[in-house]
Parts: sequence; structure tokens; C-alpha cells
Amino acid sequence: MHLSPEIFFKNCYGRYAIPAVNVFTMEQVLGLFSSGEKAKAPFIVQITPAARNYAGPEMLIAMINAAAKIFPKAMYAVHMDHGIEAHAFDAIRSNDYKSVMIDASHDSFKDNVKRTKAVVVEAHKKNIFVEAELGVLSGVEDDLSIDEKHARYTQPSEVQEFVELTGCDSLAVAVGTSHGAYKFSGGDGIQFAILEEIQRRLPEFPIVLHGGSAVNKEEIERINKARGQLMEGASGVSPEEIVKSIAYGVCKINIATDTRLLWTRVHREFFRDTPELFDPVIPGKTYMREYEKFMLEKFELLGATNKA
Ligand code: G3H
Ligand code: 13P
Ligand code: NA
Ligand code: ZN
Repeated sequence: MHLSPEIFFKNCYGRYAIPAVNVFTMEQVLGLFSSGEKAKAPFIVQITPAARNYAGPEMLIAMINAAAKIFPKAMYAVHMDHGIEAHAFDAIRSNDYKSVMIDASHDSFKDNVKRTKAVVVEAHKKNIFVEAELGVLSGVEDDLSIDEKHARYTQPSEVQEFVELTGCDSLAVAVGTSHGAYKFSGGDGIQFAILEEIQRRLPEFPIVLHGGSAVNKEEIERINKARGQLMEGASGVSPEEIVKSIAYGVCKINIATDTRLLWTRVHREFFRDTPELFDPVIPGKTYMREYEKFMLEKFELLGATNKA
């Protein structure tokens, strides 16, 4: 059933979290819906601008709607991830989404408020949920000074005013994670003191953690053993940090990189181990099976199993 994240977050706040997974291909959509139904776990299926650019919005939505028919017990919300206005308004018009993100986090506070508010006004006319972002997620780089790093984190002193001025329904925060396979290059991890302060100012308000992939060491090793060349410093968010963040109000954990690494491992091993084969269906099936296994473990970790 296609539901609003609002329902998910009301139920999970402080106790468990909903995985929000970016999909680009049919195998990912089928693997995700199959796992959600099997685990009886709520999930968010996310479409990014890059995914729209790859498969096209019609194809992505058609795949999701087909998966919902194949797995009728799946409890899910379709979300537009990292949208700019053009994507967000298109998503709102389409009636295919229960939730959109407007990502104006690279703008000034004032412009972020203005751009976010404009999307909220349109979205709320149709009861569509809006995720906004405050703070700059990436860019916690080695060559930044401590002061510069701190300037990029979400400033707890701003969150209450931001939510009041924009009317957004959830807030993505910059508390140390970043996108991709090389997180925490500065070695600082999730800033729980900042999360705690955000929660104190926004009690019961759903917080979103971007850059939620685990970047499992074992996956990196398997990819590199199959002629991959991922670098030494590949790392992600530890299971302990993910679990700890839930008590601080993190309701939604975004995951894309882990599913890309999984795709890479499955296909590299297929090509290495069976060089005589040339059938996409064979690694495709393996990927769907491994994807489902990955998600079942993720639902367990987040405490979402049996919560749908
Ligand atoms: O932030 C979400 C995704 O990791 C972005 O990936 O730009 O390839 O869609 P994408
Ligand atoms: P990862 O790169 O950690 O998978 O983060 C995904 C994300 O935040 C999507 O919005
Ligand atoms: Na998002
Ligand atoms: Zn993100």
C-alpha cells in the first residue's frame, strides 16, 4: 500500500527507523519490494534526479507500481530525493509521490527558507510530505579546518526557526555523514552532540540522515578481489552509529551507495567466475537475491521488521 511517510514517522519516532532506498533499475525495485513484503517492514522508495535522467520518471513509476501489484502487502512511500523546484513541482503534479525533498541546503539560510517554503505551499495542497535540508552534507574534507567543518554542520540554533518559517515536515541534517563510499575522511563520525541539540529544539520532529550506507569492508574486499579498484579509505556509517541515531529522532535513513557496491560485487564476480557466460538474467537474479538479503538485514538493524 502506498502511504505517506508521515504515518511511518509517527509510529517509529525514537524507536526504529525507515530505510529510504534509491532505485535506478528493475532489479532494485523488485529486490526492495520483495524484501519489504517478506520482512513486513515499511520502506521508502526514492527517485533522484539522476535516476529520472537514466530511466525516465514514467519508467521508474511504472516499475514501482508494477512491484506494488506483485507484492501487494508491501507498505511503502514514493519519495523524490534531492529535488530542485522543477523536479519537486513535477512530482507534486504527477500524483505519483507521497513525499518530495527540496534540497536548497547549499543556499543561504534565507534563500533555503524561501525555496523550501514555495515547495511546501504547493505540496501541502495535495497532502504531500516535504523533506528539507539544513546544513551542508558533503565537504567534510581533510583539508578543512575544525572551524570550517563545524560551519557546514547543521547549526542547532537555526533548526526551529527554519521549520517554523518553511512548514517543512521533516529535516535532513548534516551531522558528519556524506554521500558515497568514502565517508568520514576526517575521521570524526556522526556528531551526536549536534543531533541531541537538534532534538532538544525540535522534539518529536522527524530527522533524516543522508549518507546512510554502511560501506561494508567485506564488500570492498570482494570487489577488489574481482579486479575492482576501490581505494583503501572506503568506509561508511557503522551499525552502532545507525542504531544510536534512532534515539535522537532519526526516522529516515537514506541508502544508495551500498546497493551500488552490491551491484558491482555481484557483477564483477559473475564476470570473473563465469567468463564463458553472457546472459544478463543470471547476475540479475543473483543481484535481486543479494539485494533482498541486504535489505532484510537492514530492516533488522533499523528495527523496522514486522512494523508494517
Ligand atoms: O544522494 C543520493 C544519491 O546517492 C545520489 O545518487 O546522484 O547517482 O542519483 P545519484
Ligand atoms: P549513501 O551514499 O550513503 O548511500 O547515501 C544515500 C543518500 O543520502 C541518498 O539521498
Ligand atoms: Na531525501
Ligand atoms: Zn542524500
